[in-house]
Formats: sequence, C-alpha cells, structure tokens
Amino acid sequence: MNVMEHAVFRRFWYPVMPMSELKQRPQRFELLGQALALFLDDDGVPAALEDRCCHRTARLSLGEVCDNAIACPYHGWRYNREGQCVLVPQMPDRDPGPKRRVKAFSCREKYGYAWVALEQPLFDIPDFPEAADDSFVLIHEFYEEWRVSGLRVMENELDMAHPSYVHLGTFGSPEHLVAEDAKIEEFPGGFHYTGRLGVKQAHHAQDRNNERFLDCSWYAPFICRLRINYADGPAHVIINCQVPLANNRSQVVQFCFQEDDGNGIDEAAILAFDRKVTLEDKHVLESTDADVPLDPRDERHMVSDKPGLVMRRMIQALIEDHETQAVTVQ
Ligand code: FES
Ligand code: CO
Repeated sequence: MNVMEHAVFRRFWYPVMPMSELKQRPQRFELLGQALALFLDDDGVPAALEDRCCHRTARLSLGEVCDNAIACPYHGWRYNREGQCVLVPQMPDRDPGPKRRVKAFSCREKYGYAWVALEQPLFDIPDFPEAADDSFVLIHEFYEEWRVSGLRVMENELDMAHPSYVHLGTFGSPEHLVAEDAKIEEFPGGFHYTGRLGVKQAHHAQDRNNERFLDCSWYAPFICRLRINYADGPAHVIINCQVPLANNRSQVVQFCFQEDDGNGIDEAAILAFDRKVTLEDKHVLESTDADVPLDPRDERHMVSDKPGLVMRRMIQALIEDHETQAVTVQ
C-alpha cells in the first residue's frame, strides 16, 4: 500500500487553486482522486463541490456561476455552496428537495489560494508571521504538477545535505556539506528546524552573504516554511506546499514572502532565481520512488537526514492515531 492511500490525508487543508484562476470561471481539481468543482460565491468566497451532477453526471466545473450557485452545463440545475440543488429550471415552481444534492467540502481562502479539506481537518491552515508584517511582500511563484510524492519534496526542503550537490548552479557550496547547529523542536502536527548553512555567493542579491541562517517549519503533511535570514540583507521566506493528486503526482504550490529592507524588491530577479533552484530539485526528485517508506529500516540514512526521519515518524503516528479512532468508531 502506498503511504498516500491512508485516509488520514483527507483530513488536512490543501491550497488547491489560486484565487486568480477562480475569478475567471469555475475550475476542476482532483484532490487525492476526488474530483472537485471549485467556484466563487457572490461574496467571493470559494466553494468546493463534488464535480458530478446528481442528474446525469455532467461536470459542474464546466458550468457557470448564477445567483450565488453553480449551474450545471447540461440542463442548468443549480447548486449552492452546501451542494444543495436550489433550482431545476425546467420545474421552477417545485422545491428540488433534499435528495437533489451533491457532496460539499470545506473550502476557504487564505494567502490568495482556495484551500480545501476533504474531511474534518486535524489542524488549521498555518499562520505565517510574515503575512501580518508590512515589511514583507507576498509573491506567487509556482503552481504546477510534478511527478513525485509530496513527501519527497517536503524532505528535500529540510535536507541541507543536498545543496552542495544539487544546487551548485545556484547557491550550493561544495565546501559546506551539511548544516551547522541543526536543531529540531516538535509541536503538535509539525516541527521547527533551525541551523546555519554555508552557501556560495553571488547570482542574486540574496546570496551576497555566504551564510544562511535557517528558520524552517514543517506542518504535516505538506507545508514547509523555509525562512532564510542573512547576517546582512533582507529575509526570504519560501512557502512550499504539495497538494497530493495521486500516489506519485503532486501539485507544487510555492509562494514567498520577501522582506523589503528599503532597497525595493526586484520581483523578476527573485522569481528567476527561485525557478532555477526549483528546477534543480525537480530534476532529481522526479527520479525518486513514488512511495516513501515510513519504516526507517526500509531506506539507508545519514545524520543530516534527521528532519526527514522525524517527519516520517510523525506521519506514521498520524496514520496510526487516525486508524485507531476509525476502528473505535465502528
Ligand atoms: Fe446536470 Fe442534467 S446533468 S442538470
Ligand atoms: Co533543493
């Protein structure tokens, strides 16, 4: 069984779609195999319904929003954000009744994305302190599909032994093979990770320094906040989210908070540099196995793998807790 087949993954918030795309028209997204029709209600709040009309199964996401409801493209039945059919245009005087309905999922907006949880979420969407800090600007970076398990990408974000091999073309320094002073502090549903990493200078104003002070957080299962501080220069905070599509496919959602230290922000340069770094990772990550074994005996390790191993252990505990609860309820 692939780790992603565990039902607990239905109990987290995922940023499935940029709000800018929903402002154009309804959209379809497949989250963990569940097809969703996403649309904005009249208040501009995103809604997520099962993407299958209960009349003759057409995709609601091909329809239009009318009067605070999504209208099916086939015969125009309209559904509100709770999934209740509120109008059958061919029988306008009849109450559609409680049986004419489709499944609705929790959906809300944060950081410019529509977030969906397929079942009661275990944790809230993380609050990133930079979002409330006026000296930081939010920049949307990437929204694209990779053929990789999201857990491998999370591990990569927290793996300070790979830059000296993978990122030699950008910031990796061959003299600094691992992070110094690495520390992990767990909290419910995640952990903080701090350390220092020697990097190569230049390419980009951010790396005019040759040491990064890392202040990272991992939020189960697929959100990583990587705050990079420098002795001198603005902080760069990368938020990398992986939205699970299937066992070995993940929607990469990356945005960043860039500190303005008074010298202005060159958004194009930041995007170009982060794109280059991301493509270096993609090349290697897409070559890894689709499954991620949670039993530490199933792959070999080294000391710097600690954050990834803590992540695997916490995922294992979440799966076990969820399955124990499911058994108790029966
Ligand atoms: Fe949706 Fe007929 S299939 S209204
Ligand atoms: Co990398």
